Amino acid sequence: MENKNLYLVTGGAGFIGSCFVLQNVRVGNKVINLDKLTYSGNLENLDEIKNASNHVFIRGDIGDEQLVRKLLEKFQPDAVINFAAESHVDRSILDPDVFVKTNVLGTEVLLRVVKDWWKNLDEEKKNKFRFHHISTDEVFGTLSMDDPAFTEETPFAPNSPYSASKASSDHFVRAYHETYGLPTVITNCSNNYGPRQFPEKLIPLMTLNALAGKPLPIYGTGENIRDWLHVEDHCDAIYEVLTKGRVGQTYNIGGRAERTNLFIVNKICEILDDIKPRSDGKSYKEQITFVKDRLGHDLRYAINCSKIEKELGWKPKHNFEDGLKETIQWYLNNEDWVKNIQSGEYQKWIEKNYKERQ
Ligand code: NAD
Ligand code: DAU
Repeated sequence: MENKNLYLVTGGAGFIGSCFVLQNVRVGNKVINLDKLTYSGNLENLDEIKNASNHVFIRGDIGDEQLVRKLLEKFQPDAVINFAAESHVDRSILDPDVFVKTNVLGTEVLLRVVKDWWKNLDEEKKNKFRFHHISTDEVFGTLSMDDPAFTEETPFAPNSPYSASKASSDHFVRAYHETYGLPTVITNCSNNYGPRQFPEKLIPLMTLNALAGKPLPIYGTGENIRDWLHVEDHCDAIYEVLTKGRVGQTYNIGGRAERTNLFIVNKICEILDDIKPRSDGKSYKEQITFVKDRLGHDLRYAINCSKIEKELGWKPKHNFEDGLKETIQWYLNNEDWVKNIQSGEYQKWIEKNYKERQ
């Protein structure tokens, strides 16, 4: 990261966005961080850089045209990187509307305001500018156990309201490139894990439930497969695509680490049995329970990431089992973060999502 750049990052107080912001602020890039601070946005994720002069936090919505226009005019960013989204599949099943509002309409407003500002830049700045949209492998739908992994050419077939909203936003980004020439790139990534993930998602939820002596609720049979990638590897890949990727292209990012949910939950229990054994000497596996399946539950995701590997030389640095152990240790070491996040809204969500699965 030798050249210093100025980035407008949206959703930079969330799990993945905060990792990207921390990485970039550490190496001296300037980051303007626009985040609405919904339930999953957390300023504690940015504690390390709270006094950094090259980080400016703005609380606001990507769908607020006036605010976005003001930020573009004031800061003249070299790139806009759009992490802001509603990100949880189960929430999209219970309440899809906000997914359309932020992921579809919000992204379109952001694109339009950026395009109107970008088209008046001088030629050099115009060519250098990038709009980088952060997306998901879920836009491709689901795989059977022996299907080949998703490539950039796999047709979209989203199955949940979340993935439908992300697919729609990807289409808008593509359309803004094709129609107006906006220099866009899109990355579609598989499941992330690592520090600071909101504990509604599988790995932190199971870890914290285990420690609290609560049930470990596996949806359906637990045979579903996800392809896991450490969040730092994802953010490294984003940086490679942002700085070296070809304009108008999409790049798949994945960890080549397919695991069943059952494997993951058992592994979490084994790690905890080792580093923080239960006081009764029994295994955390005793807490595993099978509950009502997620509606429309995708069976398997797997990413073919040959394109980014070959074109940009990116490869994940973390091995999944070591990364998982470090992640669990992070949750054990950060009791205050956990305590603060589990208050208020979080309890209401747990009640809403899990009560009727019993
Ligand atoms: P997250 O829920 O942890 O963070 C989302 C952030 O966006 C929060 O800080 C929230 O406050 C902010 N936000 C929400 N609505 C906003 C709005 N209207 N305006 C401004 N800010 C808003 O999500 P995450 O896991 O960090 O995901 C980030 C992005 O990466 C999302 O676009 C998601 O679709 C994508 N993605 C996630 C994964 C994953 O495994 N978590 C994998 C692939 C892609
Ligand atoms: O694939 C990328 C996607 O990964 C991202 O786009 C999403 O933002 C992110 O949330 C994630 O989606 P998933 O639905 O795969 O992640 P989640 O952690 O919610 O669930 C992982 C698997 O674990 C899934 O098969 C459902 C299952 N699960 C999840 C929870 C929360 C359970 O069995 N029990 C649970 O309590």
